[in-house]
Amino acid sequence: MDNMDKSFIEVENVSFSYYSDEDGESKQNKVLKNVSLSIKKGEFTAILGHNGSGKSTLAKLLNAINLPDEGKVYIDGMDTADESRLFDIRKTVGMVFQNPDNQIIAAVVEEDVAFALENIGVEPSEIRRRVDEALKAVGMYEYREHAPHKLSGGQKQRVAIAGVLAMKPECIVLDEPTAMLDPIGRREIMKTIKELNSLGVTIVLITHYMDEAAQAKRVVVIDNGEIVLDDTPKGVFSQAKKIKDMGLDVPQVTELTHALYDCGVGLDLDIITEDECYNALFELLK
Ligand SMILES: Nc1ncnc2c1ncn2[C@@H]1O[C@H](COP(=O)(O)OP(=O)(O)OP(=O)(O)O)[C@@H](O)[C@H]1O
Ligand SMILES: [Mg+2]
Repeated sequence: MDNMDKSFIEVENVSFSYYSDEDGESKQNKVLKNVSLSIKKGEFTAILGHNGSGKSTLAKLLNAINLPDEGKVYIDGMDTADESRLFDIRKTVGMVFQNPDNQIIAAVVEEDVAFALENIGVEPSEIRRRVDEALKAVGMYEYREHAPHKLSGGQKQRVAIAGVLAMKPECIVLDEPTAMLDPIGRREIMKTIKELNSLGVTIVLITHYMDEAAQAKRVVVIDNGEIVLDDTPKGVFSQAKKIKDMGLDVPQVTELTHALYDCGVGLDLDIITEDECYNALFELLK
């Protein structure tokens, strides 16, 4: 296949194992099994799966933290196993992790966002421009001179996202970015993610929250190292039984509308977002 024909992110028949030493014997834990996934530029994909299913391992394959044992990962045509492209791959795919405290290093917000740019020798005037732009994009510009440790969890995580954004990545992979946040912080992050996506940034969001996955354009479900569902959020959550058999839930509003339906209330069964649920109930009660 020519590189031009490839999607922006191409995961091709990838297997990945961790090895541990047990009583002097090397033990293999095959975490990803022949996984294939293509993601187009500008897509917003959520990845779901229960604990230990391989989501973070997959995320780390997307910016060459992990390299496949078998198969290939291409980012914008670049083979992640090609060491000479490592810098470009990491510049193309930015990563945001769960704990903002581990991602923030500097004592002032704007210095933190500038940190990576300074490390790669970007011109000071360009750093200024990019830092301001990134902080505005996440709604943290007014806090640029604040101390990160005095911010809320959601604000800190937005600063961490700004730090990634300042590198001008084409894709951001977020591995449970809201897991440590309160509901307000979670909402702030989801709003930020959707805004970045609307600006053309490709988003891969790993989450345990079904209502967050429901806001993506595509949902990929991993179970035991294999992709088992890959569809629109409605397509995925309509398979409630399959989802529950994997130890996952459907969004709360889906649960609610199904329960009401079972009581004889005439509601659509493909409701997955709060807005849809609100509108359906409003119509019903009008
Ligand atoms: N660095 C590592 N060394 C050894 N084993 C690991 C390592 N990281 C993960 N694993 C194991 O690989 C499997 C998949 O882990 P992974 O972190 O990819 O799952 P996950 O879907 O992200 O889980 P979670 O929802 O808990 O974040 C688990 O069994 C885990 O214990
Ligand atoms: Mg994980």
